[in-house]
Amino acid sequence: MADDLAWPWDRMIHGGDYNPEQWDEEVWVDDVRLMQEAGVNLVSVAIFSWALLEPEPDRFEFGWLDRVLDLLDGGGIGVNLANATASPPPWLAARHPETLPVTATGIRLSPGARQAYCPSSPIFRERAAILTERIAERYGEHPALRVWHVSNEYGCHVSRCYCDVSAAAFRRWLEERYGTLDGLNRAWGTNFWSQRYHRWEEVLPPRAAPSFPNPTQQLDFRRFSTDELIALFCAERDILRRVTPTVPVTTNFVIGSGFEPVDYWAFASHVDVVAIDHYTHSVDPEAHIELAYCADVSRGLAGGDPWVVMEHSTSAVNWQERNVPKRAGELQRHSLQHVARGADGAMFFQWRQSVAGAEKYHSAMVPHAGTDTKVWRDVVSLGAALGRLDEVVGTTVEASVALVYDWDSWWTNELDSRPSQAVRYPDQARALHRALWQAGITVDVVRAGASLDGYRLVLVPTLTMVDNGAIAELERFVAAGGVALVTYFSGIVDQHDHVRPGGYPGAFRDLLGIVTEELHPLADGDIVELTDGTRATTWVEHTHLRGAEAVVTYRTGPYVGSPAVTRHTVGDGVAWYLGTRLEPDGLAGLLDIVVGEAGVRPVLPGLPDGVEAVRRRGPSGTFVFVVNHGDAAVEIAVTGRDLLGGRTGPALLIEAGGVAVVAEDV
Ligand code: GAL
Repeated sequence: MADDLAWPWDRMIHGGDYNPEQWDEEVWVDDVRLMQEAGVNLVSVAIFSWALLEPEPDRFEFGWLDRVLDLLDGGGIGVNLANATASPPPWLAARHPETLPVTATGIRLSPGARQAYCPSSPIFRERAAILTERIAERYGEHPALRVWHVSNEYGCHVSRCYCDVSAAAFRRWLEERYGTLDGLNRAWGTNFWSQRYHRWEEVLPPRAAPSFPNPTQQLDFRRFSTDELIALFCAERDILRRVTPTVPVTTNFVIGSGFEPVDYWAFASHVDVVAIDHYTHSVDPEAHIELAYCADVSRGLAGGDPWVVMEHSTSAVNWQERNVPKRAGELQRHSLQHVARGADGAMFFQWRQSVAGAEKYHSAMVPHAGTDTKVWRDVVSLGAALGRLDEVVGTTVEASVALVYDWDSWWTNELDSRPSQAVRYPDQARALHRALWQAGITVDVVRAGASLDGYRLVLVPTLTMVDNGAIAELERFVAAGGVALVTYFSGIVDQHDHVRPGGYPGAFRDLLGIVTEELHPLADGDIVELTDGTRATTWVEHTHLRGAEAVVTYRTGPYVGSPAVTRHTVGDGVAWYLGTRLEPDGLAGLLDIVVGEAGVRPVLPGLPDGVEAVRRRGPSGTFVFVVNHGDAAVEIAVTGRDLLGGRTGPALLIEAGGVAVVAEDV
């Protein structure tokens, strides 16, 4: 985040996407009144308004938006104003069908939904720039403007375009990266399968081919596609910055434990504040744990600074298999969970529930049934709760454990040619995070290669692809006294997806004091037993000791007697390896030992099951958020004043589903 453009609030953000163009003007007046009643202080406006704002090329109709912004300003509501480029109008596709995106199988997608554009299209970019400039000039001085919202969820529907324009842009990107065709041929290993390129024109995106397209070509195309989306964002951001240098510019990242197309580590440094969208899966009984993980990823992207939830849902969404409403209390609990983990506010999609269009069954802050509803009462009560948290704004989350999270490793694990399709990159990361969540320990999520200073324990799940810088940082961290836990299928390939030869886990053999000669995926349902009584699934490795000690070995399965868990003392620290996927109890037991060795402690001792505690700290004090996800009231020992309920410790009763935010006595 640029220092001079820090998130400009001294209050927690409360609000949502506001789409007034779907309603008659009389409704707008009511909207502002209701926003005031709910304590809303920010709404996102005009995200999907291009077709109304520019009904034909270069003819603009801003009157309705002028009236909306004036009304909002009159009501004291701030605006997160979109530059409206998220979805081009039908006239663009009609006049320039070449701006439409093309799939890997060569199908040109049609307009009629949203986001139907090729990110590399010069025509799309030019039209988006014109619209951005006009909006910036018109509203740059508007008193309601607080922040610019560029586009929407880059890459959500179209993350990669395979058209000829994209192909030419890909070649330019490759030329810049590798300099020469020789460099490209080396990196892509094109002597394999007669793929050697002799002219740049021969190089294409990894379109549908008779068998696996070259893996490095696939990886580079993902990197290129992320860079194209960043370039698109930056071009529009720079126009906004030029016209309004003091207004922060952001876009909303799609943060889900399964959303892999965009490398957000690469994107995050280009926004003035990290804003994310997160939706829980309504049938997931552990949705709150997945939420905690995604919130920790978001905080990581923000470099530990405060961030904001730009969208989540008040209740059901409209795009899952069964869109089940949230349970009682979840609206508030989920919002405050994000705040506990460093968000300075949580907004919703959307303000008023649509009556037409694809999202009419998606929940909103004002439901179809109106204000005499549970959702509306919850929205109002959340506004009141957030209004009591002014002191917390700007504080940051405390953690002494880091989890290394990496899009390259994610991508290499998504490729079509790999040992096991059952190894999904986020699985092990989430399993480790879940075990520590249950132990009441807060985890920071960090980029591979980031400085690990200040942490006691570093978790390295399935870091299949790793470059030399990240290896060196982990080695330095351990030698200096840190504890690391690396898990299976890590350290295998370099940044070009070439195997680091000499035995697995190539990059970490020395650090871990082991060598693995063979990788062995297990069939679905297969279980191996370990000598400490724990059980494992999915994957085992035939490992030999080279300085490490075997802590646990396999009792059954293909590698009886081979180490499954090893421990290696290096300098002042310790490097652990877990070569298999332990069942949850076993993983919790192992982490208990590793956490103990690292001297990591939970935020509050002896937390009951299903209760989450996170501490935020800053010049205004320290604040412990305690969230009770369980069905029974719990008593928590914490000394201070609950900002939400006004009660004071040393012991606080937190009702089933309740939340306390305790300003600790110092
Ligand atoms: C997001 C999107 C919103 C809305 C929402 C529904 O992905 O940014 O515009 O569609 O999903 O859950």
